[in-house]
Amino acid sequence: MHQSLICSQTEQSYDINRLQNLSETGKPLLAIYDLDAIRDRFTPECVRNRPIRSMWKFWEVLPVESPDEAVSLGEGCTPLIPCRARGSFAAFSNLFVKDEAFNPTGSFKARGMSAAITRAVALGAKVIALPSAGNAAGAATYYAAQAGIECYLFMPEDTPPANIIESVVGGAHVYLVNGLISDCGKLVKQGCERFGWFDLSTLKEPFRIEGKKTMGYELAFDLADVNGTNDLKLPDVIFYPTGGGTGLIGMWKAFNEMERLGWIGKERPRMVVVQAEGCSPVVKAFNEGVDHAEMFPNAHTVASGLRVPAAVGDFLMLNVLRESNGTAVSVSDEELLSGARELATEQGVYACPEGGAVWKACQQLADEGWLSPAERIVLFNTGAGLKYNHLLPVGELPILDHTNADCLDLLDQ
Ligand SMILES: Cc1ncc(COP(=O)(O)O)c(C=O)c1O
Repeated sequence: MHQSLICSQTEQSYDINRLQNLSETGKPLLAIYDLDAIRDRFTPECVRNRPIRSMWKFWEVLPVESPDEAVSLGEGCTPLIPCRARGSFAAFSNLFVKDEAFNPTGSFKARGMSAAITRAVALGAKVIALPSAGNAAGAATYYAAQAGIECYLFMPEDTPPANIIESVVGGAHVYLVNGLISDCGKLVKQGCERFGWFDLSTLKEPFRIEGKKTMGYELAFDLADVNGTNDLKLPDVIFYPTGGGTGLIGMWKAFNEMERLGWIGKERPRMVVVQAEGCSPVVKAFNEGVDHAEMFPNAHTVASGLRVPAAVGDFLMLNVLRESNGTAVSVSDEELLSGARELATEQGVYACPEGGAVWKACQQLADEGWLSPAERIVLFNTGAGLKYNHLLPVGELPILDHTNADCLDLLDQ
């Protein structure tokens, strides 16, 4: 395998052929590829011509020797939807939604789980465990089921019911915890030590980020298609709803790999971290100009994926923001829910609250003049609105009596 693992802080190398979690210094391990060895055969053209309809079309930069090894349910290849310049979107002429709701189990977590479970199984893992805000649990359940391994999940007790139900139905061992995702993470760590499970917490093993980075590869191809050319292209600005930050760090890694492969030049998008006001550790750390984020006290937000009070990859996210000339903003729960409603009614995208948050953040930064609405902007809708139906009361709907010939009179009122 043309790959190795290094510590993201010290760059010390680690054995890629063993199940690994964090480095000795407690930092994430990252997969490094011998890109020079594959440059001649791994080209945009060859990727375009492949019959593979999933993120595994990029298999040379994923943890396999061949795409047949993948534990896959068809993840990735999500649509990049151009927004119509109407309603609250009227000023934006070059705005797109990368709609990750199209993934198996309805969120971008599918990408990370497909890659991580593929590698964990190849290295002999029989039981995995993870803490989850909800969507990662659903994804882990179904990839574990496909791989034929057991899955232990620990989620806050107020996790969206849809995520709990899908996990139970898919055969995972589901435990609800009277605390936050960080408390769930501590139980997972204890369980792994005691029962020998493999810890699949985000960024605490090296391959969920590899799956998530494919969002960055795909974007470059999507925008080339928008331009009607073969030249890969990145947007000017990317908005990412941030909890653990795996997708943000992953996409940045993808851009660097693409440059080293000779696929793109030095230009990069400005990356924007979006968090909820009730849980915004990265926004706070970015504004204070520090290298690490402190545990955010009393974390609360209805956008469950953003309720991550402390992240092991905090320093990596802050690096990405600074290197990219990006920024970090927070929005209130009221705003993010109204953002999701605007995406639904004005663009036909049934977005998750996290997707609503990025749209509101985009409007905020346009109002402040940080970006021009004519720039090419990509919003990540990271999951399906359907999973959050419990947050969206639609009120009492009238029931029409179809046996009454006058029942449509109601519509006159
Ligand atoms: C829908 C959704 N959006 C965003 C996030 C945050 O993702 P990340 O951990 O990559 O920052 C999550 C995580 O649970 C999520 O479920």
